[in-house]
Amino acid sequence: MITKPKGCVDVTGDESLLWEYVNDVVSTMMRTYNYEFIRTPIFEASELYHRSVGESSDIVKKETYDFKDKGDRNLTLRPEGTAGVVRSYLENKAYALPDVKKYYYNGTMYRYERPQSGRLREFTQFGVEVLGSNDPIVDAEVISLQYKILETLHISNLEVMINSLGDAESRKNYKEALVKYLEPNLDKLCDDCKERFKTNPLRILDCKVDKDSEVLKNAPKTIDYLNKESKERFETVLKYLDIMDIDYEVNPSIVRGLDYYDHTVFEIVSLDNFETEHNVLGGGGRYNKLIKELDGPDSYGIGFACGMDRIINILKDMDLYKDIKRQVEVYIMYVSEEEKLHAIDIAQNLRLNGVITELDNMGKGLKGQFKEADRLQAKLLIILNNEDLQKGLVNVKDNATKEEEKVDLGEIVEYIIGNL
Ligand code: HAM
Repeated sequence: MITKPKGCVDVTGDESLLWEYVNDVVSTMMRTYNYEFIRTPIFEASELYHRSVGESSDIVKKETYDFKDKGDRNLTLRPEGTAGVVRSYLENKAYALPDVKKYYYNGTMYRYERPQSGRLREFTQFGVEVLGSNDPIVDAEVISLQYKILETLHISNLEVMINSLGDAESRKNYKEALVKYLEPNLDKLCDDCKERFKTNPLRILDCKVDKDSEVLKNAPKTIDYLNKESKERFETVLKYLDIMDIDYEVNPSIVRGLDYYDHTVFEIVSLDNFETEHNVLGGGGRYNKLIKELDGPDSYGIGFACGMDRIINILKDMDLYKDIKRQVEVYIMYVSEEEKLHAIDIAQNLRLNGVITELDNMGKGLKGQFKEADRLQAKLLIILNNEDLQKGLVNVKDNATKEEEKVDLGEIVEYIIGNL
């Protein structure tokens, strides 16, 4: 038997109801905050990720799915959404519009990781990218939107961990201080970190192997190296978050694993479920250099992405969602061909009026249909028989109280809607 590739999941059954529910909450919230849905390709030119996510990031170094197509082009399955959105913004010259662009997306991403709970090779992210504004109001809005989506899903004990990497000057000063500090301590770090020291020392700060080492705990902090402008900018973001009533903690160890960030960076966790790094529900930050680095104008960007699979894992364990079951409202029962014609007609009318309706598709007898209606937890049963139909009537049975009533065929839709 052919099985699914390692690190991938099938979403089916009651769990797929949770996915539909979360997708609905996400798209409703995105529209409320006036974000525009964007869909970009699942694969892009490999160069896009090398130049944005960065050569020194773990993602590009070890985790991309790269392939050549039949035209010998180097392509990569997208490991994240930001690069593709920025590419589209530039290619479509959306920067020429006078206003800020606020995009949201929801789709699968691909990283060749060691699969475990909360870490997949094909996973789903929803996220936003806001392009064209450097106003701290946007930083606060993006963080707040991410927070409020998770709060609307009733995920408890949420906390935003926030930090600032500052502008180019602050980052340069910080990098110098970090290199000076790390150099004499290198032998205490893992082999990957020794390599990172040469390519991008900042990466050492989010090393998964060394994260609890004394060396990293005592390392200089980015916020101590912010110049006046960057510091004021960061304080303004925090002030706006206070107004928006968002719980945050300034956490100097948040530096993020992708190379394109500057200024505000953040991650969001549920403290109740925060045992491992796989429970980081989302993260993001500002990337004011990226647009120019991808041959665009000097412009600004910020965004976040949340891991849907991780969110669903949390919801699955919550009492609130335990009762989400695939359930129909009405089950229509028939035996003869004549009754079947009426059943088809009534089902069509009910469905077009928004009533979740099912009927037998397998030629089952009445006994089998009663069983099926119970399995689907139908609230009301419409039981058709020729005799009643000739008088223009149908039987409706409440499947909980077992009470039955004869209803006029012409009024069946109104009756059902009124009795659900
Ligand atoms: P990221 O931190 O790499 O950021 O991913 C964001 C979220 O995607 C993570 O917090 C996690 O919930 C989920 N995620 C990442 N990798 C996996 C995986 N292998 N399995 C399951 N879930 C995963 C980004 O991707 C940036 N593009 C975010 C961003 C947008 N920054 C600015 N704009």
